[in-house]
This record gives sequence, C-alpha cells and structure tokens, in this order.
Amino acid sequence: MDDFKGRLTKDGIRIHDTASFAGMHRAGQLAARILDDVAPLVFPGQTTEVIDAAIEQMVKDVGATSATIGYRGYKHASCISVNHVVCHGIPSAKVLKDGDILNIDVTVIVDGWFGDTSRMYVAGKLGRKAERLIEVTHEALFKGIEAVKPGNTFGDIGHAIQSFVEAQRMSVVRDFCGHGLGQVFHAPPNVLHYGRAGAGPRLEEGMFFTIEPMVNLGRPETKVLADDWTAVTRDKSLSAQFEHSIGVTATGAEIFTLSPGGKFHPTWG
Ligand code: MF3
Ligand code: CO
Ligand code: CO
Repeated sequence: MDDFKGRLTKDGIRIHDTASFAGMHRAGQLAARILDDVAPLVFPGQTTEVIDAAIEQMVKDVGATSATIGYRGYKHASCISVNHVVCHGIPSAKVLKDGDILNIDVTVIVDGWFGDTSRMYVAGKLGRKAERLIEVTHEALFKGIEAVKPGNTFGDIGHAIQSFVEAQRMSVVRDFCGHGLGQVFHAPPNVLHYGRAGAGPRLEEGMFFTIEPMVNLGRPETKVLADDWTAVTRDKSLSAQFEHSIGVTATGAEIFTLSPGGKFHPTWG
C-alpha cells in the first residue's frame, strides 16, 4: 500500500488505496443492480411506498444494509422524488399517475462501503418536456464526470455542469450538493453542481465522492416541506436528478454505480 494513501488532504478529503476501490465497486454495483431491478415496479396506479418496500427487501436479499434507514431519523430504504420534488421525497401511499417522473435514490452498505446512486423513472408515458429535462440532467452528470481527473478542481466539475444546463435554459439547484463518501455516507467535500473553473480543492487519485445534479425546468430555488425532508421547487416546476458514486483514478474517474444492465433511461421497456 502506498504510504500517501489513507491520509486526509488539507481540506479533510480522504485519499483511498486500491483495495478501497474494489470495496466501492462492490457496493456501487449492488446499489445499481437494485435500480435496474426496480424499473418494472414503476407504473401508473403504483404507490411509492410499495416500491420502497420492494427496495428494502432487495437490499436484505443481497445481504446488504440500507444506509438510509435510521439515518438522521429517516425510516425508508429509498428516497422517491416525484415531479416537482427535487430530492428526499418520502415514500408514501400516494398513487403514481400517467406521465409522472420520479427519481429513486438508493444507498447501500456492503462490507462497510457505501454505494449511493439515483436515476429517473416514468410512470406510463413520458412527456416531451419531461424527457428533455431528464436527458439534460443525465448529460449534465456526465459533463461533471468528464471533468474528473487529477489536477482539475471541484470547481471544474461544478462549472461543467452549470454551463451545460444553463445553455439549455434550465437551472441547477444550489441548495443540495454531492458529497464525499467511502466508509461513511457523507464526508467532505461538498460537491457543488455550479461554480467557477479552477475554484475549490484540487482532485487527487483516491478521492471518492458523488456527483448528483438536480436540474429544474424553471427557477433553481427550493423549499423543504413541514415533514423536514421533502424538498420541492418553489415555482412548482419539474425537477430531475441522476447520481453516481465515483473514484478519482490516475487518469480520470471510475464510476462505481454504472448500471450492470446498461440501463439509465426511463423508457427502456
Ligand atoms: N442518498 C441521498 C444522497 O444522495 C441521501 C439520502 S439521506 C435520507 O446523499 F435520509 F434522506 F435518505
Ligand atoms: Co448522495
Ligand atoms: Co443518493
């Protein structure tokens, strides 16, 4: 093991070794497989609490642990954020209707490693505006990932996402960000989805973090509902999000949470 590994940078960001990449890969792939397997459960007439119960069972079946159950009082194995819900939607008995778009966000713990990922789904027929929002949001995540390599900065990631999204006349949510992770759920740094090129801490091989941009069709402002979790767009516009857990390699990024089935688009059948 290289002796620089395992240290914290001056910004408190952990540098991980090669064995840690393998741990993150296993956790990330498990979380991603659950997102693959949940797709057939999304349809008009379904409730998000039934989807969440299925996710909780899938986590158990593979011998993993849910990172969200019991986290700061949260009680569910997923966050399910429908239409104008930006993130942290609580699974409920509310019935999905035709054309609803939803983000499902799952975090599992496998052998102590955290795999955190989310994708968009649709109940029934995907509307044209919603489809464009979802495509821009997914591409925004990958613009961010393409900016990941040693020597670039976290500001380069945020700038790549923000400039792409705003050129499509959509907006990037500022009130929530990605985060370091590894053997903990949320660690430094805050990974902003907006910013200036060259700003922020420098990326180093062995850093693990999420990129999870939330993009709105309208304005970027959000508010949190009285349940203290559910974040919604203030102007009620549609919002979308995709999240990957990644590690910085010598030359770029390893995406731990890529779909094992090659799935990410809500209309794969
Ligand atoms: N998975 C979310 C994230 O991307 C965090 C959810 S915390 C919960 O960071 F408690 F709301 F589940
Ligand atoms: Co996350
Ligand atoms: Co997440």
